[in-house]
Amino acid sequence: MIGGSNLGLTCQHLCKTYPTRNGLITALDDITFSVKEHEFVSIVGPSGCGKTTLLKLIAGLSKPTSGQIIFNSGLSRHQQRTALVFQEHGLFPWMTVLDNVAFGLEMYGMPKRDRRDLAMTFIEKVGLVSFANNYPHELSVGMCQRVGILRAFAADPQILLMDEPFGSLDAQTKQVLRQELLRIWRENKKLILFVTHDIDEAVLLGDRVLVMSGHPGHIREEIQIPIHRPHDPISEQQLELTEIKWHIWKILEEEVLKSLQMPS
Ligand SMILES: Nc1ncnc2c1ncn2[C@@H]1O[C@H](COP(=O)(O)OP(=O)(O)OP(=O)(O)O)[C@@H](O)[C@H]1O
Ligand SMILES: [Mg+2]
Repeated sequence: MIGGSNLGLTCQHLCKTYPTRNGLITALDDITFSVKEHEFVSIVGPSGCGKTTLLKLIAGLSKPTSGQIIFNSGLSRHQQRTALVFQEHGLFPWMTVLDNVAFGLEMYGMPKRDRRDLAMTFIEKVGLVSFANNYPHELSVGMCQRVGILRAFAADPQILLMDEPFGSLDAQTKQVLRQELLRIWRENKKLILFVTHDIDEAVLLGDRVLVMSGHPGHIREEIQIPIHRPHDPISEQQLELTEIKWHIWKILEEEVLKSLQMPS
Protein backbone atom coordinates (compact mmCIF):
# COMPACT_ATOMS: atom_id res chain seq x y z
CA MET A 1 0.00 0.00 0.00
CA ILE A 2 1.06 3.54 -0.65
CA GLY A 3 1.74 5.49 2.55
CA GLY A 4 1.26 9.17 3.36
CA SER A 5 0.10 11.52 6.05
CA ASN A 6 -3.54 11.14 6.81
CA LEU A 7 -5.07 13.87 8.90
CA GLY A 8 -8.56 15.22 9.27
CA LEU A 9 -10.65 17.68 7.36
CA THR A 10 -12.86 20.65 8.25
CA CYS A 11 -15.71 22.18 6.26
CA GLN A 12 -16.45 25.75 7.32
CA HIS A 13 -19.69 27.53 6.42
CA LEU A 14 -19.91 25.78 3.04
CA CYS A 15 -22.60 27.08 0.71
CA LYS A 16 -23.31 25.96 -2.83
CA THR A 17 -25.81 27.49 -5.22
CA TYR A 18 -26.40 26.28 -8.76
CA PRO A 19 -27.69 28.62 -11.45
CA THR A 20 -30.58 26.98 -13.33
CA ARG A 21 -33.10 28.14 -15.93
CA ASN A 22 -35.57 28.73 -13.09
CA GLY A 23 -33.16 30.79 -11.00
CA LEU A 24 -30.66 29.85 -8.32
CA ILE A 25 -30.92 26.58 -6.40
CA THR A 26 -29.26 26.58 -3.00
CA ALA A 27 -28.05 23.00 -2.64
CA LEU A 28 -26.06 23.53 0.55
CA ASP A 29 -26.37 26.22 3.19
CA ASP A 30 -23.82 26.86 5.92
CA ILE A 31 -22.38 23.38 6.29
CA THR A 32 -19.82 23.22 9.10
CA PHE A 33 -18.31 20.02 10.46
CA SER A 34 -14.97 18.40 11.13
CA VAL A 35 -13.83 14.85 10.58
CA LYS A 36 -10.89 13.50 12.54
CA GLU A 37 -8.11 11.47 11.01
CA HIS A 38 -9.11 7.80 10.80
CA GLU A 39 -12.75 8.59 11.43
CA PHE A 40 -15.55 6.84 9.54
CA VAL A 41 -18.49 9.19 9.13
CA SER A 42 -21.79 8.15 7.56
CA ILE A 43 -24.07 10.74 5.95
CA VAL A 44 -27.80 10.20 5.58
CA GLY A 45 -30.51 12.55 4.36
CA PRO A 46 -33.51 12.74 2.04
CA SER A 47 -33.05 12.75 -1.72
CA GLY A 48 -31.96 16.15 -2.99
CA CYS A 49 -30.60 17.44 0.35
CA GLY A 50 -27.11 17.92 -1.12
CA LYS A 51 -25.13 14.81 -0.13
CA THR A 52 -23.56 14.30 -3.56
CA THR A 53 -22.91 18.04 -3.85
CA LEU A 54 -21.05 17.96 -0.52
CA LEU A 55 -18.81 15.05 -1.59
CA LYS A 56 -18.09 16.73 -4.94
CA LEU A 57 -16.97 19.90 -3.15
CA ILE A 58 -14.63 17.92 -0.88
CA ALA A 59 -13.29 15.96 -3.88
CA GLY A 60 -12.58 19.26 -5.66
CA LEU A 61 -14.89 18.41 -8.58
CA SER A 62 -16.93 21.51 -7.87
CA LYS A 63 -16.20 24.81 -6.08
CA PRO A 64 -18.16 26.10 -3.08
CA THR A 65 -20.04 29.36 -3.63
CA SER A 66 -18.72 30.42 -0.24
CA GLY A 67 -17.02 28.85 2.75
CA GLN A 68 -13.96 26.66 2.78
CA ILE A 69 -12.63 23.16 3.08
CA ILE A 70 -9.47 22.78 5.11
CA PHE A 71 -7.32 19.68 4.96
CA ASN A 72 -5.75 19.52 8.39
CA SER A 73 -2.68 17.78 6.98
CA GLY A 74 -1.55 21.17 5.66
CA LEU A 75 -1.45 19.69 2.15
CA SER A 76 -3.16 21.45 -0.75
CA ARG A 77 -6.00 19.75 -2.54
CA HIS A 78 -3.64 18.64 -5.31
CA GLN A 79 -1.32 16.96 -2.83
CA GLN A 80 -4.16 15.48 -0.82
CA ARG A 81 -5.20 12.15 -2.32
CA THR A 82 -8.97 11.98 -2.37
CA ALA A 83 -11.01 9.30 -4.14
CA LEU A 84 -14.72 9.54 -4.83
CA VAL A 85 -16.80 6.44 -5.48
CA PHE A 86 -19.73 7.77 -7.46
CA GLN A 87 -23.40 7.03 -6.98
CA GLU A 88 -23.29 5.76 -10.55
CA HIS A 89 -20.14 3.71 -11.00
CA GLY A 90 -18.21 6.33 -13.02
CA LEU A 91 -16.00 3.81 -14.85
CA PHE A 92 -14.15 4.69 -18.04
CA PRO A 93 -16.07 2.87 -20.79
CA TRP A 94 -13.00 2.57 -23.02
CA MET A 95 -10.95 0.74 -20.38
CA THR A 96 -11.19 -2.89 -19.29
CA VAL A 97 -12.05 -3.82 -15.71
CA LEU A 98 -8.35 -4.38 -14.98
CA ASP A 99 -7.31 -1.02 -16.45
CA ASN A 100 -10.11 0.79 -14.64
CA VAL A 101 -8.97 -0.61 -11.27
CA ALA A 102 -5.29 0.02 -12.10
CA PHE A 103 -6.01 3.58 -13.23
CA GLY A 104 -5.83 5.10 -9.77
CA LEU A 105 -2.30 3.74 -9.30
CA GLU A 106 -0.95 5.33 -12.46
CA MET A 107 -0.74 8.78 -10.89
CA TYR A 108 1.67 7.58 -8.22
CA GLY A 109 4.29 6.46 -10.69
CA MET A 110 3.88 2.75 -9.99
CA PRO A 111 5.32 0.61 -12.82
CA LYS A 112 2.66 -0.85 -15.13
CA ARG A 113 3.27 -4.50 -14.17
CA ASP A 114 3.01 -3.76 -10.41
CA ARG A 115 -0.09 -1.70 -11.04
CA ARG A 116 -1.79 -4.55 -12.83
CA ASP A 117 -0.69 -7.12 -10.21
CA LEU A 118 -2.06 -5.02 -7.36
CA ALA A 119 -5.28 -4.32 -9.28
CA MET A 120 -5.69 -8.06 -9.87
CA THR A 121 -5.44 -8.85 -6.15
CA PHE A 122 -8.39 -6.49 -5.57
CA ILE A 123 -10.37 -7.96 -8.47
CA GLU A 124 -9.90 -11.45 -7.02
CA LYS A 125 -11.49 -10.35 -3.73
CA VAL A 126 -14.86 -9.70 -5.34
CA GLY A 127 -14.88 -12.64 -7.73
CA LEU A 128 -14.43 -10.73 -10.97
CA VAL A 129 -11.24 -12.39 -12.24
CA SER A 130 -12.93 -13.88 -15.28
CA PHE A 131 -14.15 -10.38 -16.23
CA ALA A 132 -10.80 -8.62 -15.80
CA ASN A 133 -10.46 -8.07 -19.55
CA ASN A 134 -14.08 -7.14 -20.19
CA TYR A 135 -15.36 -3.61 -20.75
CA PRO A 136 -17.97 -1.93 -18.48
CA HIS A 137 -20.81 -2.27 -21.02
CA GLU A 138 -20.33 -6.05 -20.87
CA LEU A 139 -20.99 -6.10 -17.10
CA SER A 140 -24.14 -5.87 -14.98
CA VAL A 141 -24.86 -2.72 -12.96
CA GLY A 142 -23.81 -4.45 -9.71
CA MET A 143 -20.56 -5.69 -11.28
CA CYS A 144 -19.72 -2.16 -12.49
CA GLN A 145 -20.43 -0.87 -9.00
CA ARG A 146 -17.96 -3.39 -7.56
CA VAL A 147 -15.29 -2.31 -10.04
CA GLY A 148 -15.87 1.37 -9.15
CA ILE A 149 -15.35 0.55 -5.46
CA LEU A 150 -12.21 -1.48 -6.19
CA ARG A 151 -10.74 1.35 -8.23
CA ALA A 152 -11.02 3.63 -5.19
CA PHE A 153 -9.65 0.98 -2.79
CA ALA A 154 -6.67 0.20 -5.03
CA ALA A 155 -5.77 3.88 -5.36
CA ASP A 156 -5.30 3.92 -1.57
CA PRO A 157 -6.40 7.53 -1.06
CA GLN A 158 -6.01 9.35 2.22
CA ILE A 159 -9.62 10.45 2.09
CA LEU A 160 -12.21 8.06 0.71
CA LEU A 161 -15.53 9.61 -0.31
CA MET A 162 -18.28 7.10 -1.07
CA ASP A 163 -21.63 8.08 -2.55
CA GLU A 164 -24.13 5.26 -1.99
CA PRO A 165 -21.52 2.78 -3.22
CA PHE A 166 -23.47 -0.36 -2.35
CA GLY A 167 -26.85 0.82 -3.63
CA SER A 168 -27.32 -1.61 -6.51
CA LEU A 169 -25.57 -4.65 -5.03
CA ASP A 170 -27.16 -7.87 -3.85
CA ALA A 171 -27.26 -8.49 -0.09
CA GLN A 172 -24.34 -10.97 -0.04
CA THR A 173 -21.97 -8.80 -2.08
CA LYS A 174 -22.95 -5.81 0.05
CA GLN A 175 -22.02 -7.77 3.16
CA VAL A 176 -18.63 -8.84 1.71
CA LEU A 177 -17.79 -5.30 0.60
CA ARG A 178 -18.85 -3.75 3.92
CA GLN A 179 -16.45 -6.10 5.72
CA GLU A 180 -13.73 -5.34 3.16
CA LEU A 181 -14.31 -1.61 3.58
CA LEU A 182 -14.05 -1.89 7.39
CA ARG A 183 -10.88 -3.97 7.03
CA ILE A 184 -9.27 -1.42 4.69
CA TRP A 185 -10.32 1.40 6.98
CA ARG A 186 -8.87 -0.37 10.05
CA GLU A 187 -5.61 -1.42 8.39
CA ASN A 188 -4.91 1.75 6.44
CA LYS A 189 -6.37 4.27 8.86
CA LYS A 190 -8.35 6.21 6.33
CA LEU A 191 -10.78 9.03 6.73
CA ILE A 192 -14.03 7.87 5.14
CA LEU A 193 -17.18 9.84 4.34
CA PHE A 194 -19.91 7.40 3.38
CA VAL A 195 -23.27 8.51 1.97
CA THR A 196 -26.09 5.99 2.24
CA HIS A 197 -29.88 5.83 2.26
CA ASP A 198 -29.70 2.75 4.48
CA ILE A 199 -29.93 3.68 8.18
CA ASP A 200 -28.77 0.21 9.31
CA GLU A 201 -25.70 0.54 7.10
CA ALA A 202 -24.97 4.09 8.33
CA VAL A 203 -25.03 2.93 11.97
CA LEU A 204 -23.22 -0.35 11.27
CA LEU A 205 -20.27 1.34 9.54
CA GLY A 206 -19.98 4.82 11.01
CA ASP A 207 -18.29 6.15 14.14
CA ARG A 208 -20.64 9.06 13.68
CA VAL A 209 -23.69 9.77 11.54
CA LEU A 210 -24.39 13.19 10.03
CA VAL A 211 -28.11 13.57 9.40
CA MET A 212 -28.83 16.14 6.69
CA SER A 213 -32.05 18.01 5.89
CA GLY A 214 -33.00 19.64 2.64
CA HIS A 215 -34.34 22.94 1.25
CA PRO A 216 -31.61 24.06 1.44
CA GLY A 217 -29.28 21.27 2.51
CA HIS A 218 -27.87 21.59 6.01
CA ILE A 219 -26.72 19.35 8.83
CA ARG A 220 -29.60 18.71 11.17
CA GLU A 221 -27.89 16.48 13.69
CA GLU A 222 -24.57 14.74 14.37
CA ILE A 223 -24.94 11.44 16.19
CA GLN A 224 -22.01 9.67 17.79
CA ILE A 225 -22.29 5.87 17.69
CA PRO A 226 -21.20 4.94 21.22
CA ILE A 227 -20.45 1.29 20.47
CA HIS A 228 -17.27 -0.11 19.01
CA ARG A 229 -17.38 -2.55 16.12
CA PRO A 230 -17.96 -5.39 15.58
CA HIS A 231 -21.41 -4.98 17.04
CA ASP A 232 -22.48 -7.98 19.07
CA PRO A 233 -25.88 -9.07 17.71
CA ILE A 234 -27.16 -10.41 21.05
CA SER A 235 -25.80 -7.84 23.47
CA GLU A 236 -27.73 -5.15 25.32
CA GLN A 237 -25.92 -2.66 23.10
CA GLN A 238 -28.34 -3.65 20.35
CA LEU A 239 -31.09 -1.87 22.24
CA GLU A 240 -29.06 1.32 22.22
CA LEU A 241 -28.35 0.95 18.49
CA THR A 242 -32.01 0.30 17.77
CA GLU A 243 -32.92 3.50 19.61
CA ILE A 244 -30.37 5.45 17.57
CA LYS A 245 -31.71 3.99 14.31
CA TRP A 246 -35.28 4.81 15.36
CA HIS A 247 -34.25 8.38 16.16
CA ILE A 248 -32.64 8.80 12.71
CA TRP A 249 -35.67 7.18 11.07
CA LYS A 250 -38.01 9.71 12.74
CA ILE A 251 -35.91 12.67 11.56
CA LEU A 252 -35.82 11.37 7.99
CA GLU A 253 -39.53 10.56 7.98
CA GLU A 254 -40.27 14.12 9.10
CA GLU A 255 -37.97 15.48 6.37
CA VAL A 256 -39.55 13.38 3.64
CA LEU A 257 -43.09 14.32 4.73
CA LYS A 258 -42.02 17.97 4.78
CA SER A 259 -40.64 17.70 1.25
CA LEU A 260 -43.92 16.07 0.12
CA GLN A 261 -45.78 18.76 2.09
CA MET A 262 -47.74 16.18 4.08
CA PRO A 263 -48.58 16.47 7.80
CA SER A 264 -46.39 14.31 10.08
N1 LIG B 1 -25.32 20.49 -11.61
C1 LIG B 1 -26.41 20.93 -11.02
N2 LIG B 1 -27.10 21.98 -11.51
C2 LIG B 1 -28.21 22.46 -10.90
N3 LIG B 1 -28.72 21.93 -9.76
C3 LIG B 1 -28.09 20.89 -9.22
C4 LIG B 1 -26.91 20.32 -9.81
N4 LIG B 1 -26.49 19.28 -9.04
C5 LIG B 1 -27.36 19.20 -8.02
N5 LIG B 1 -28.33 20.17 -8.12
C6 LIG B 1 -29.42 20.41 -7.17
O1 LIG B 1 -28.86 20.49 -5.86
C7 LIG B 1 -29.68 19.83 -4.91
C8 LIG B 1 -28.85 18.75 -4.22
O2 LIG B 1 -28.52 17.71 -5.16
P1 LIG B 1 -27.65 16.47 -4.77
O3 LIG B 1 -27.46 15.64 -5.99
O4 LIG B 1 -26.43 16.93 -4.07
O5 LIG B 1 -28.62 15.72 -3.72
P2 LIG B 1 -28.45 14.29 -3.01
O6 LIG B 1 -28.68 14.53 -1.55
O7 LIG B 1 -27.20 13.67 -3.42
O8 LIG B 1 -29.71 13.50 -3.60
P3 LIG B 1 -29.88 11.90 -3.87
O9 LIG B 1 -30.08 11.27 -2.50
O10 LIG B 1 -31.13 11.83 -4.69
O11 LIG B 1 -28.66 11.42 -4.58
C9 LIG B 1 -30.88 19.30 -5.69
O12 LIG B 1 -31.93 20.24 -5.52
C10 LIG B 1 -30.43 19.28 -7.14
O13 LIG B 1 -31.52 19.54 -8.00
MG1 LIG C 1 -26.75 11.91 -4.47
